[in-house]
Order: sequence, then structure tokens, then C-alpha cells
Amino acid sequence: MGYNVDFVLERDVPELTGKVVLITGGTGGLGAGAALLLAKRNPAKLYITGRNEAATQKIIKQIHDDGSSTEVTFLPCDQSSLASVKQAADTFLVRESRLDVLMANAGVMAAPPGLTEDGYEVQFGVNHVAHALLIRKLLPLLDQTAITHGDARIVMLTSLAFILAPRGHGIVFDELRTPQNYWFLGGFQRYAQSKLANLLHGRELARRYPNITTIVIHPGESNTSLVGNLSWYHKIVVFLPNIGRFLPVEQGCWNQVWAVGVPKDKVVSGEMYEPIGALTKGYTQYCLDEKLAARLWDWTDEELKAWL
Ligand SMILES: NC(=O)c1ccc[n+]([C@@H]2O[C@H](COP(=O)([O-])OP(=O)(O)OC[C@H]3O[C@@H](n4cnc5c(N)ncnc54)[C@H](OP(=O)(O)O)[C@@H]3O)[C@@H](O)[C@H]2O)c1
Repeated sequence: MGYNVDFVLERDVPELTGKVVLITGGTGGLGAGAALLLAKRNPAKLYITGRNEAATQKIIKQIHDDGSSTEVTFLPCDQSSLASVKQAADTFLVRESRLDVLMANAGVMAAPPGLTEDGYEVQFGVNHVAHALLIRKLLPLLDQTAITHGDARIVMLTSLAFILAPRGHGIVFDELRTPQNYWFLGGFQRYAQSKLANLLHGRELARRYPNITTIVIHPGESNTSLVGNLSWYHKIVVFLPNIGRFLPVEQGCWNQVWAVGVPKDKVVSGEMYEPIGALTKGYTQYCLDEKLAARLWDWTDEELKAWL
């Protein structure tokens, strides 16, 4: 069944005057789409992280051509390196005294088996561990912003693909520092594990930081480079179960932009929303496993100790 795609930027997202927004992976795909739309609501500042500065400069030009008054900054951040993530967070903290929206959007899917610079399975490292470090570094500022200005949010991108997370575990903690080269749909099992981690991390953030509104987003399926760059075999795995559900690329970012604008008393922090703004009915047993969420939090704390 398709999604109920009812979204009007001017109706659903109030002016963001004075706000500071940071989007990870805003150099292309859904993150870039979100940056373009949010800039139309004129936040004071918009930070776009990623590796591709040239692509960001094009987005910045388009934002200014559209007449936005927002100050847009490219913040280099390679999420396969925790040193790079720490550097990006430190740079942001030196420059800014508030953070209203942190959109944890950057992601890789069905990447070949491999390890990040710090030795994590690539998708787990980029999609979860790097975001966890960035968020942990910026939490005090988010918390302060929530106290001073009454609202601060984390918008966390996950995917219904978490249904493919490794059976019997959800997250295979003992193997997170290996390439996890599983023979059956390995790339998707690893992606699913990382997206399950995004969801569980979001739920745990909501529980531990009630001041901050954490909205977990499944954006719907759309043909960004995340999908377009897959092998034909992997494309079949994505397209076949999603016939009739694919959103036009320009609509792919609408749900995460909705999450920035929705009044905070109209959402439940830590829950996942499908397009547009619909509480999910698609949780698996692992999504609701509080012990698994707590174990992920503790594992992540231990791994990041040296970086905080
Ligand atoms: N498209 C879909 O159908 C779909 C469905 C469900 C969930 N999602 C989720 O939506 C999010 C955005 O996906 P998308 O479709 O927009 O993907 P995309 O078009 O491939 O864009 C991915 C973004 O992530 C950044 N990125 C990738 N690797 C990075 C790294 N090592 N360090 C820093 N940034 C990195 C890229 O920036 P640089 O190349 O500049 O680094 C790019 O801006 C992801 O979290 C994905 O899991 C997408």
C-alpha cells in the first residue's frame, strides 16, 4: 500500500526565524532536499555536513537563488572516521551557542563488506556510531537550547528495512568490529542492523533526554543515489517488495521536513513516523526490545569513551 503523502511546506513548517539547523549528509539525496525546503522557512543558520563540498556549494547557490536569508555553511565530516566527526562537532561548538534541530540523515546502504577507519563494520560505523558521537557531543547544546527556547529536536533517519536485521540477534554485538560478510543478503542485513540501531538509539535518547524531542523517521522509498547506485541484483531486492510505494525523489524528504515543523505536543518522542507524520505500525520485535536498546546505549558509550 502507498503512503498518505499530504504535505505543504508553508502549512506544516512554521518560519524557523532565529533557529540553527544541522543536517548530516545534506550534500545530496534526501538531506539536500530537506536543506532546500527548510531554507525556505528562513532559519538563521543551516549547517550541511558530508564529504562532497562541491555538491554543497551548488545547494548553497540554489538556496540563495531561491531568496532565502539563511546563512548556510558546509561542515566537512566523513562519518567513516570518528576523528573527522569529532572535528566537525568541535568546530560547530566553537561557532554556535544554540542548536534547534539536528537531523541525523547521512547514510550508506548495502555497502560491500568492509571496516571504517576505526574498525567498525562500514554501515554500522557510518550510520550509527558516527551519528552517536556527533549527537553525544552536541547533546548539552541541544538540552540548553530546549531549556532556553522551549524546543530542540533530533530527527533520526531510519528505515523499515530494519526488518532484515540479523535473525536471533537484531544487532550482532560480537561481530560489529568485523566485516560481517554474511552469504545471504549480507549488504542488506548489515544495513538493516544499522537502521535498527538508529531506531533504538532514537528511542533511548527520548527516554534519557525528555527535554529534547526525538522523532524517528522512515522517509519512504525514493530513487536517490542510495538506491540508484545499487547493483541490479540489489535493486531488485529494493524495488520488488516496494512496488507502488516509491515516492518521487522531490517528495522523499517531506517526512523528515514535517518532523522539523510538527508541534512537539503532536508527536511522541522516540516513536517512528512514516510518510507523512503517521505513527508506524511496522515495528519488529527488536524495535520494541528495551534490553536491546539499553545494551546498544551501553556498548556505544563504551566505544565512544575515548572520543568525548
Ligand atoms: N532513499 C530511500 O529510499 C531511503 C529509504 C529509507 C531510509 N533512507 C535513509 O535516508 C537517509 C538519506 O538517504 P538518501 O536516500 O538521501 O541517500 P543518498 O542520496 O545516498 O545520500 C546520502 C548522504 O549521506 C552522505 N554520506 C554517505 N556516506 C558518508 C560518509 N562516510 N560520511 C559523511 N556523509 C556520508 C552523503 O554525503 P557525501 O557523499 O558528501 O559524504 C549524502 O549526502 C539515509 O539515512 C537512509 O538510510 C532512505
